[in-house]
Amino acid sequence: MRYLVGNWKSNKTFDEAQAWFNEIPEAIIPTDTEVVICPPYPYLVTLANDGRRTTSLKLGVQDVSQFPYGAYTGAVAVEMVKEWADYAILGHSERRKYFHETHQEVANKVDRCIEAGLTPIVCVDEDYINQQIAAIQDEHMKKIIVAYEPLSAIGSGDPDTPKHAVQVARAIKDKAEFDVPVLYGGSVKPGNIQSFLSHQEISGALVGGASLDPTQWKDLIAAFSLA
Ligand code: PGA
Repeated sequence: MRYLVGNWKSNKTFDEAQAWFNEIPEAIIPTDTEVVICPPYPYLVTLANDGRRTTSLKLGVQDVSQFPYGAYTGAVAVEMVKEWADYAILGHSERRKYFHETHQEVANKVDRCIEAGLTPIVCVDEDYINQQIAAIQDEHMKKIIVAYEPLSAIGSGDPDTPKHAVQVARAIKDKAEFDVPVLYGGSVKPGNIQSFLSHQEISGALVGGASLDPTQWKDLIAAFSLA
């Protein structure tokens, strides 16, 4: 299985989100690829109930609380979203940087997602791979997807080289002691995605900026049909 995951971050009005989905015909999604969009939380339920979550186009969230239901002001427990989402991006570098998430907190979120039946997409960066992977329980390694995202490549237009991304993907699999699916993320565009997908070590892409534009998104999906 391969994965194309779009992270909208804190972007788009609700009307813009609806318009985006109107542009994406389901028929273009290849059967061996999971295509996932992670919109802002407030749009999730309506998008899912409007039929935007289909067998081929999945919805995900960009974070979950490390806690269950309870007295955690402002937190969104995974139980609150599990009915409408299939995936959760966890430990994105922006969460680690601006919200000071620790490796252990991210690992706690992995636990909550797996308990609730969501597939975690755990973001890691090269400098901390060993600690970030080590924090995750061994038995969960078979249930997660890892996204390797070099900090210098996020939103910069300057992606990693496929050769180096492959080396890091191998290092992640070694550390995980399992052939965990590894996605590459960081300035992925229609013009460069093929160079990553052509390596068997890379199971897909986590895309920020290019996921916001339906035309680029369609071109990214098309690359999966070719690779
Ligand atoms: P980018 O973002 O595609 O805009 O570089 C990637 C990410 O933050 O996941």
